[in-house]
Amino acid sequence: MRLDKLLVEMQIGSRSEVKKHIKNGLIAVDGNNKVKPEQQVDPQKQQITFRGKELHYQEFEYYMLYKPGDCVTARTDNFHKTVMDYITSQRKDLSPVGRLDLDTEGLLLITNDGKLSHNLLSPSKHVIKIYEANIEGIVTNEDVCAFETGLDIGDDTMTKPAKLEILEAGDISKIRVTITEGRYHQVKRMFQAVNKKVIFLKRIQMGTLCLDKNLQPGEYRSLTIEEISALKEGA
Ligand code: URA
Repeated sequence: MRLDKLLVEMQIGSRSEVKKHIKNGLIAVDGNNKVKPEQQVDPQKQQITFRGKELHYQEFEYYMLYKPGDCVTARTDNFHKTVMDYITSQRKDLSPVGRLDLDTEGLLLITNDGKLSHNLLSPSKHVIKIYEANIEGIVTNEDVCAFETGLDIGDDTMTKPAKLEILEAGDISKIRVTITEGRYHQVKRMFQAVNKKVIFLKRIQMGTLCLDKNLQPGEYRSLTIEEISALKEGA
């Protein structure tokens, strides 16, 4: 890739700043500081330094965002903030893995690892997604059975068995639900199918990845090496 692009991605500076650094001889490739911004480099094979310090290029970046309930899962939007507005990385190839509705909050993985993203979203992999929700109305054991059996939510096929756990039953019930599909508005439509309404929805897990309890809405962090390996193995 181009040297200037690599340096911008590594957050050494803006395009014009890295050009200045190159001109001032602060960047060296394999010990040579007579380099050009447009020069092609291979960060896996060549040593690249800035002010004498070696730079370690990461091909893939992985972040978990605690998506707030007022932003869209998209790269750009004319009306709302997007999930990408919360990520300060300079990488232009980052994308959210799957979607959460505008008003749904919780765990969202953001990465430029297309293979992992594809595997996590592939229907054949049955990757689990766990949500906590507040439901208008009393959630009953019949609902638990209906979720386990499969529901007609208006699609060609019934939903796959889902595990519904009642955490609190009342006028507003609190539940946890585990699904292995990713249909449009799936959780909301499943409750609609049993004549109930989701009034709050939060994703807490996707595959092996759990939402970090230390994150507040709008905050994000890089995944650990262990989290990345577990996700790849699971998918
Ligand atoms: N199910 C929904 O209904 N909405 C989401 O955002 C995710 C799952």
